[in-house]
Amino acid sequence: MTAPRVVLGVSGGIAAYKACELLRRFTESGHQVQVVPTAAALHFVGEATWAALSGRPAATETWERVHEVPHVRIGQQADLVVVAPATADLLAKAAHGLADDLLTNTLLTARCPVVFAPAMHTEMWEHPATQENVATLRRRGAIVIEPAVGRLTGVDTGKGRLPDPAEIFAACRRVLARGSLTQDLAGRHVVVSAGGTREPLDPVRFLGNRSSGKQGYALAATAAARGARVTLVAANTALPDPAGVDVVRVGTALQLRDAVLKAAAEADAVVMAAAVADFRPAEYATGKIKKVDGVEPAPIVLVRNPDILAEISADRARPGQLVVGFAAETDDVLANGRAKLARKGCDLLVVNEVGDGKAFGQDTNSAVLLGADGSEVHIADGPKEVLADAIWDQVAARPADPADRSAG
Ligand code: PMT
Repeated sequence: MTAPRVVLGVSGGIAAYKACELLRRFTESGHQVQVVPTAAALHFVGEATWAALSGRPAATETWERVHEVPHVRIGQQADLVVVAPATADLLAKAAHGLADDLLTNTLLTARCPVVFAPAMHTEMWEHPATQENVATLRRRGAIVIEPAVGRLTGVDTGKGRLPDPAEIFAACRRVLARGSLTQDLAGRHVVVSAGGTREPLDPVRFLGNRSSGKQGYALAATAAARGARVTLVAANTALPDPAGVDVVRVGTALQLRDAVLKAAAEADAVVMAAAVADFRPAEYATGKIKKVDGVEPAPIVLVRNPDILAEISADRARPGQLVVGFAAETDDVLANGRAKLARKGCDLLVVNEVGDGKAFGQDTNSAVLLGADGSEVHIADGPKEVLADAIWDQVAARPADPADRSAG
């Protein structure tokens, strides 16, 4: 198989330095990358860096190697064009079809999917001119990732930060795998839980699990990319907030329950990817539990936590709300998964094998999607975003309006 050909366009913003990490991710995973920085981008990161990281000279000039017709060829031959960072100026030029440098020429000649990862100050992002340009680009089929919220250049904070390079890379990998990204979840509100709950024993200790939150974050990021309004209830994760997603942070199973029930009241779909503790210590010691010489420690008495998935499945906050659960199994995976689906009463159960370097903390996962309607879809091991997309495919296949669903 030939390596996918990616054009990495870089426009002139301070976040250009983060495009180096994005470039690294592409080259290390076997993509051929042609970097096309604008003249302004070269003020921030020089040609030598792009050449060294991509293994080929950066293409900067329309008037160099004219016999190779670079202003047409680079775009025509690409499997994917990604512009990161995409400044307000670059988005404006792209939306209006300007072609006054190599990158803007490339954008006009590319017939492959195009991804823009904007980065600019909040005022520039929110300006109606930029918003209209973004809407124009999206209407034409380009993927414009929502900027992240956080520290901007100088002392400012707000929306406009370049999404994390890992997130841009994941979005590009999905586009390459799927051909394009549709907005098939537009108009839907989805709730995703992620991470692992921690049940405190005393101020320094807790009962926890190995969930990193990666699978839940992949679900949140892919749903947002497909146009959904996303609430992510995150338990004890150390991952950057996915761009364009409302993140609610929780610690314990009881806090996760409160947050999920609150968000689910208005949601069209709820996906429970969090690893929720089934039990919590019956008592919480307000001071650190001390070891005392010659005295055996008291046994830890546990009480059951509520089963949130079973609860939201049994008592849907909205008619037709779709509920998706996960099953983390170590043995008799499918048989246990089928029994769990019946017990929990959800519409879809994502059965994944865990342990021995599987699922927890990994970048990849495999699973079987068991439907309450008897359907069974096997997803081979691959990036967690691929599994996430397969789950959203099933959600998107069901009508958003419950009335339509019962009619079908
Ligand atoms: O976070 P990563 O490192 O990426 O790892 C991903 C994952 C392995 C955590 C994820 O893919 C996964 O399997 N999540 C569910 C883990 C889990 O709690 O499985 P379970 O079989 O114990 O629970 C079944 C379902 O009931 C889950 O949807 C869980 O969210 C839910 N549950 C469980 C207990 C409880 N008290 N309330 C619940 O709602």
